[in-house]
Amino acid sequence: MSKPSILIARAVFPEVLQRLRQYFEVDDNQADEALSPAALIARLRGKQGVFSTGMERIDAEVLAACPELRICANQAVGYNNLDIATMTARGVLGTNAPDVLTETTADFGFALLMATARRITESEHYLRSGRWQRWRYDMFAGVDIHGTTLGVIGMGRIGQAIARRGAHGFGMKVIYHNRSRLDGAAEAACQARYVSKDELLRTADHVVLVVPYTPQSHHTIGAAELALMKPTATLVNIARGGIVDDAALAAALRERRIAGAGLDVFEGEPTVHPDLLTVPNVVLTPHIGSATLPTRLAMANLAADNLIGFLTGDGPLTPINPEVLDRK
Ligand code: DGY
Repeated sequence: MSKPSILIARAVFPEVLQRLRQYFEVDDNQADEALSPAALIARLRGKQGVFSTGMERIDAEVLAACPELRICANQAVGYNNLDIATMTARGVLGTNAPDVLTETTADFGFALLMATARRITESEHYLRSGRWQRWRYDMFAGVDIHGTTLGVIGMGRIGQAIARRGAHGFGMKVIYHNRSRLDGAAEAACQARYVSKDELLRTADHVVLVVPYTPQSHHTIGAAELALMKPTATLVNIARGGIVDDAALAAALRERRIAGAGLDVFEGEPTVHPDLLTVPNVVLTPHIGSATLPTRLAMANLAADNLIGFLTGDGPLTPINPEVLDRK
């Protein structure tokens, strides 16, 4: 019997490529070429599966041009690159890579919070540029982390892991806002109190965003929300570009209406709003929240498990639209 065929849209760990070759005819992209939408369609046509990274858009046009496609396995927990409604209508399964990245991404969120509050990259640039001549009492004085109020917007698995770090590691008071309130046990584990979004923005010393990107969460933080924040507060976005209005944020940072921001994701990334590149009080990283080698390998293996399980085995592990499975 011939093997199903898949496209791996970007370079992957060689051991994951080897695993997938045991089960599939594989069209790989180890050269890591950027695939235009037309090239993606050309490479995907006639194939049953795609191993995607979260950067390739699998939209209605791609789905219509690739009617043999049965599964998109995203090597990411976020899946705003997949048109799930159209996929479901066409009977195409989507899978993502949750859980395996939770603690690593929460570590990173906290690292970004700390770097922002304590002005780590700004002061390092100063030192590297040779401008450090002498000590001064208020040189790069930042804001405290321990004992302050942490506000988490988006209290899924990663949001809860950040809240636990704040409450248990840094003695922070934790408040959160979410589409739905957590149950009592989950709130107790994070020592977190549910508040409205406005109360969170007015009260928190550090605001961390961990909401999925949807049309409803577009510009969760814009000029009006920034205006509610304390001038000493910091904002961290490890969720997705588009959750924050980057132009409004750059203006607030420039005018010191908030103290600082830490951003791992950007509207239109890898392009970054030019105003963010010129304000000093922002820490910028290139979408590396889950980037440790063990975690990225676990994410890639989970995407591979989903392809293998769905196309050749007992079923996928982490389906996004399981109703497609029910119809089989
Ligand atoms: C995720 O898993 O969603 C990360 O942001 C990587 O894309």
